[in-house]
Amino acid sequence: MSEKKPFYITTPIYYPSDNLHIGHSYCTVAADTMARFKRLSGYDVMFLTGTDEHGQKIARRAEEAGVTPLAFVDHIVGNIKELWKLMDIEYDDFIRTTEPRHQQVVQKIFKRLYDQGDIYKSEYEGWYCSPCESFWLERQLVDGKCPDCGRPVERMKEESYFFKLSKYADRLIEYINTHPDFIQPASRRNEMLNNFLLPGLEDLAVSRTSFDWGIPVTFDDKHVVYVWLDALSNYISALGYLSDDDSKFRKYWPADVHLVGKEIVRFHTIIWPIMLMALDLPLPKQVYGHGWLVLDGGKMSKSKGNVVDPVVLCEKYGSDAIRYFLLRDFPFGSDGTYSEDLLVNRINSDLANDLGNLLSRTVAMIQKYFDGKIPYVDDELHEEDRHLREIALALPDKFETHMNALAFSEALADVFALVSACNKYIDLTMPWALAKEEKHKGRLAAVMYHLAESLRIVAILLTPFMPRTSPKMFEQLGVLDSTLQTWESAHEFGLLKPGGYVKKGEALFPRIQLKAEESAPQPKAKAVPAVKKATAAPKEEPVPPDVITYDDFMKVDLRTAKVLSCEPVKGADRLLVFRLDDGERERTIVSGIRKWYGEGESLVGKTVIIVANLKPTKIRGIVSEGMILSAADDADENLSVSTVLDDTHLPAGVRVR
Ligand code: MSP
Repeated sequence: MSEKKPFYITTPIYYPSDNLHIGHSYCTVAADTMARFKRLSGYDVMFLTGTDEHGQKIARRAEEAGVTPLAFVDHIVGNIKELWKLMDIEYDDFIRTTEPRHQQVVQKIFKRLYDQGDIYKSEYEGWYCSPCESFWLERQLVDGKCPDCGRPVERMKEESYFFKLSKYADRLIEYINTHPDFIQPASRRNEMLNNFLLPGLEDLAVSRTSFDWGIPVTFDDKHVVYVWLDALSNYISALGYLSDDDSKFRKYWPADVHLVGKEIVRFHTIIWPIMLMALDLPLPKQVYGHGWLVLDGGKMSKSKGNVVDPVVLCEKYGSDAIRYFLLRDFPFGSDGTYSEDLLVNRINSDLANDLGNLLSRTVAMIQKYFDGKIPYVDDELHEEDRHLREIALALPDKFETHMNALAFSEALADVFALVSACNKYIDLTMPWALAKEEKHKGRLAAVMYHLAESLRIVAILLTPFMPRTSPKMFEQLGVLDSTLQTWESAHEFGLLKPGGYVKKGEALFPRIQLKAEESAPQPKAKAVPAVKKATAAPKEEPVPPDVITYDDFMKVDLRTAKVLSCEPVKGADRLLVFRLDDGERERTIVSGIRKWYGEGESLVGKTVIIVANLKPTKIRGIVSEGMILSAADDADENLSVSTVLDDTHLPAGVRVR
């Protein structure tokens, strides 16, 4: 049996904070998705995360809380692990910088760099930003404040050990220039070169004496190791570097990718590679600096009181929906503006409508037309079958290319292109019409088979993104054989065995009704305490996401309207455009019901029910001012527009309640 190829991926190790917000989850969800994808596609994966527990900031906060720093961090680390569990983060190791296995390695590294002359003793005089744990030169400050976080800096003067960054600067520049993949995206590489490396590197203070919450320098115990030197070493200490058992280090180093937020790319592409060069170790293959999730008002931060709590979101919408949204809505390298409206729209349109409905319609039709059994295909393939197969067969390679480039949003777009091709395939093949005649039974079988088989492939590719949803899809499709759930099996069309039984299940993602007051543009998320459940929630009875109040219902202006005319929309085979009298004026509504009403003549003169206060929208260049209500069965076989029988006494413009 051939050995699996190793793949090593890391997140930054987090500062213990009881305020981890949705922005913090972003990187971890991305890393977990990538790790799951690599496991699925046959790699031996090592996915590392953890906590960065030393430094002046933690020491001060523990002091304020009146506890020892270790007691302070212990409690928070427990909450962080709980959060990762809630979000289905399946790490292979969680390293804490307070663990002896880490401390010993940092001490050995420090000593070795000192012994070989790369670390020397001197005095530091300059500025320090305690929240960022960064040293700054006078010329780097912006308006006298930290250029990264904008907070006040402190003047520092203390004896310190220094690391000779300057000695390695030219080698690092050369390395970056000859390894274009090392810093990604490319914009971050240019930023590092132009803003930090080319202007010249100063040696870095790498020990502190004014507090003691850190790893002691073994040969000079009034010094503790600077927190970034300590933290960066986690990527190799967790692998057992310089320990009795360094088998993991030999297997997984160099890392394939360090995922980090854009503000800490600097530490990972300057200090870290120079440490590795000085230790004579290979550099990580890639450092990827992803963008930030921000709110309309700017960065999420505890001090602004605008953090968005991932625990609350996961409990409200489910962790799969949050994972999907984070990686679908924002290109990974860029900043993205978070809002709950965006999240709900994504869930409703992609997950509830496109994916969820496709699965439930497919299962419902197989139940109805084939007693729940995946049918056997013996018919000739039609053009639309071949087209769907082509899309499905091309998908895994495209998807893999995007995943390997950490282009999560594009990879998901690839999968959803197949979902939407399936929905179009239903419109084209019209299974409800085929079911009407026995002679079309073979064709109907082929259509059902193609849908179920495409959904099997969709479920496989979604596994890394939505680890709870894919198993539900397999179950509903009756794909219980694990060999049909593998990455390899996603490359073949036609593996699904006829004769298996589908099983109707719960809707994958029930549509979320936005409460009217929430659907208004939402400038800022509410301040909620992170990790712990929102204890300060409003007193009123919570409304489940799929329930609306009477007041909510009354906000919908439902009324009767008389159809004055109707005609097909040119170039759109599903659409009809209606002119209606709504009791006050004439209005236009575009509706996708041509399939059931042909040219719509039978509706002219009828009184129908419309949603009159729906935001107007342009469809095929026509402004549609509302929606005509209709009822349709799961299989979309039968659809009927709701009409008013007694239109003598209930003319146009009557309120529907
Ligand atoms: N402890 C350091 C990392 C040391 S790694 C050797 C640290 N910790 S942190 O807790 O402040 O941040 C952890 C990660 O969360 C960083 O990559 C940071 O960029 C990321 N994020 C924090 N807020 C974020 C957003 N609003 N959006 C996206 N990522 C954000 O830095």
